[in-house]
Amino acid sequence: MNIHIMTLFPDMVMGGLNTSIIGRAMDKGILSIEAVNIRDYAYNKHQSVDDYPYGGGAGMLMQAEPVYQCYRAVLERIEADKKPRVLYMSPQGKTFSQKMAGELAEEEELIFLCGHYEGIDERVLEEIVTDYVSIGDYVLTGGELPAMVMVDAVSRMVPGVLHNDVSAEFESFQDNLLEYPQYSRPEVWHEKRVPKILLSGHHANIEKWRREQSVIRTAEARPDLLERAELTEKERELAEAYVKNSLQSLSECDKI
Ligand code: ADE
Repeated sequence: MNIHIMTLFPDMVMGGLNTSIIGRAMDKGILSIEAVNIRDYAYNKHQSVDDYPYGGGAGMLMQAEPVYQCYRAVLERIEADKKPRVLYMSPQGKTFSQKMAGELAEEEELIFLCGHYEGIDERVLEEIVTDYVSIGDYVLTGGELPAMVMVDAVSRMVPGVLHNDVSAEFESFQDNLLEYPQYSRPEVWHEKRVPKILLSGHHANIEKWRREQSVIRTAEARPDLLERAELTEKERELAEAYVKNSLQSLSECDKI
């Protein structure tokens, strides 16, 4: 997969992505990530890329032409027969999810566009952007951090990026459940014991316990996810008991 990130801060983006698992995948050639500096496509001698918004208002806007020329330059380097998706990082976009990460991981080429200041001239967005994506209901100073978050989440779904492809299968949000708790050596730490069942070597029972723990965790922390999870009747009862319990303890607090 080839990822192209259009940004005014290429060092920030590459500094964050060059390390650990994603960095190794780049070294192995499974993944290529380049940050392209929009400022290199400024068309005035001061290399400025922003200007005041028509109609007034706070702050500066990134101008259309440098963004467009940067996009054209990226396209020229891509050998795909169809135009790649262009993802614009914006709090007004569709909320990013694990499902979206999985879908994007199937693309061969992806272009991320990071805005800064008060955003980007609408006309160039209309012309080049295919997807508006937000990473959550809060406002950041630019699209670089959201792009890094998304590139990380998408990259680890690309086959070969994780050492062990199984670990991308059994994790939070798969099946709309959160991941079960995990333990490593020593067996006792701060007087806390590893749950006995994990030492039993009985794989079927361990799987059952882990599944139960996932259901309980999800019921406690993200009951909204449970509506979309496929649960057995027993698991649904377990989840409902947890939700009811926490509601009860809430109403007891109310009495105080
Ligand atoms: N740019 C600023 N805030 C953002 C957010 N929450 N998600 C994506 N892009 C953004």
